[in-house]
Amino acid sequence: MIKVINRVEGSYALGVLCSDYPDRFIAVRKASPMIVGLGENENFIASDVTAILKHTRNIYYLEDNEIVVLQKDSVKVYNTDKEEVKKDVFTVDWDVSAAEKGGYEHFMMKEIEEQPKALQNTISPRIKDGRIVLDDISLTARDIKNINKIYIVACGSAYHVGVVGKYLIEKMCRIPVEVQVASEFRYCDPIVGKNDLVIVISQSGETADTLAALREAKDHGARILSIVNVVGSAIANASDDVIYTWAGPEIAVATTKAYSTQLAVMYLISTYMAEKLGMLTSGEYARLVNDIEALPDKVAEILKSKEDVQYLASKFYNCHSIFFIGRNLDYAVSLEGSLKLKEISYIHSAAYAAGELKHGTISLIEDGTLVIALATGRELFDKTVSNVKEVKARGAVVMGVTTTEHTNMEDVADYVVKIPTIHEMLLPSLTVIPLQLFGYYMASLKGCDIDKPRNLAKSVTVE
Ligand code: BG6
Repeated sequence: MIKVINRVEGSYALGVLCSDYPDRFIAVRKASPMIVGLGENENFIASDVTAILKHTRNIYYLEDNEIVVLQKDSVKVYNTDKEEVKKDVFTVDWDVSAAEKGGYEHFMMKEIEEQPKALQNTISPRIKDGRIVLDDISLTARDIKNINKIYIVACGSAYHVGVVGKYLIEKMCRIPVEVQVASEFRYCDPIVGKNDLVIVISQSGETADTLAALREAKDHGARILSIVNVVGSAIANASDDVIYTWAGPEIAVATTKAYSTQLAVMYLISTYMAEKLGMLTSGEYARLVNDIEALPDKVAEILKSKEDVQYLASKFYNCHSIFFIGRNLDYAVSLEGSLKLKEISYIHSAAYAAGELKHGTISLIEDGTLVIALATGRELFDKTVSNVKEVKARGAVVMGVTTTEHTNMEDVADYVVKIPTIHEMLLPSLTVIPLQLFGYYMASLKGCDIDKPRNLAKSVTVE
């Protein structure tokens, strides 16, 4: 096996049986997920903990090219120098039901409904006596002051969290932030070096493009801080610092609770860094911390009126093309709302910066085109309202998503979804909820396979 893996290129997760040794098999991984399950008189390998949770909670997380020899009553791990490696046993603490539907029709709705708890589990361990405490990271105030530039690198919905992160960090910390999809970052010979911080976001911690981008950044000497939902995953293991999202296992391919908890960690990091940089008064800091702690209840409040969104979906599920528009943080969320709709209902959709419509895209608007306009921020509300009027004038049907604070969206939009108010910086966490529900109900009404959409995988561990 050592001879083989010294010759094999690429990523792999192998379990090898040999008829000469029927009582054992050998396993090895490289840049592909694999864990070892330690049972009673039985041992396992699997790509994910959820696959073996019914049999054992005790597992080994494997590093790349660690070779495991499994027999029913023994598991030995070796490095490529044939030296036995001492592995710590990790005991999984979430219960089996976390990986089951629990009475919901789909994992996706279960996970949408779990968001208040997931947010609570992610936020509360990191706020003590009104202060953000990030024990998970070794980033000192001095390190933060020396940051030259921040890159945020991820794929899919995790990338959309990065777009929110850019607005937050630049607004609050005045540090330049560049957000890139991992598949581009890894091949663009990035201008990144030792004074740069690269924030890597990944639910699975195994996405091949994101892992490769992390390695590219590390090779350039950058410091890696990752936001990951799976403990012991490849991205977590390869980072200098990891902040885990405690969302629990996310089964539905289209992420919801992992996205929301990643946003929460982004708020914690942005506020933590801004405070260390002296960019916040104590009052501003206290208000942010207070509102971050209020997020779970605010999300729960929105979920109570999910049937309102179901009603709207019943009016639009036959649409062939739906546009999402917004400005600043609302634009960042419109990207996620559009992706949610596309990936599970297969309806074409696009997200545009509302101010960009007039530069070409508005030609796509015709009679009856549905435009979902996100206008939750104060400063740009009127600007987005004027974009709503522009598309209305060209025949669009408009669904506005705004806060209870704005009372004149009803004057311009055909339908209005209201969310509660909160600190402006935290609005994405509330705005996204109706959009997750909208995508879910549209897909449900179209009879799509919501948890396992066609052509998609929960974690893309290949290029
Ligand atoms: C896609 C998932 O395959 O990968 C998305 O369907 C996800 O939901 C994206 O956002 C990135 O995955 P991860 O695990 O790196 O966050």
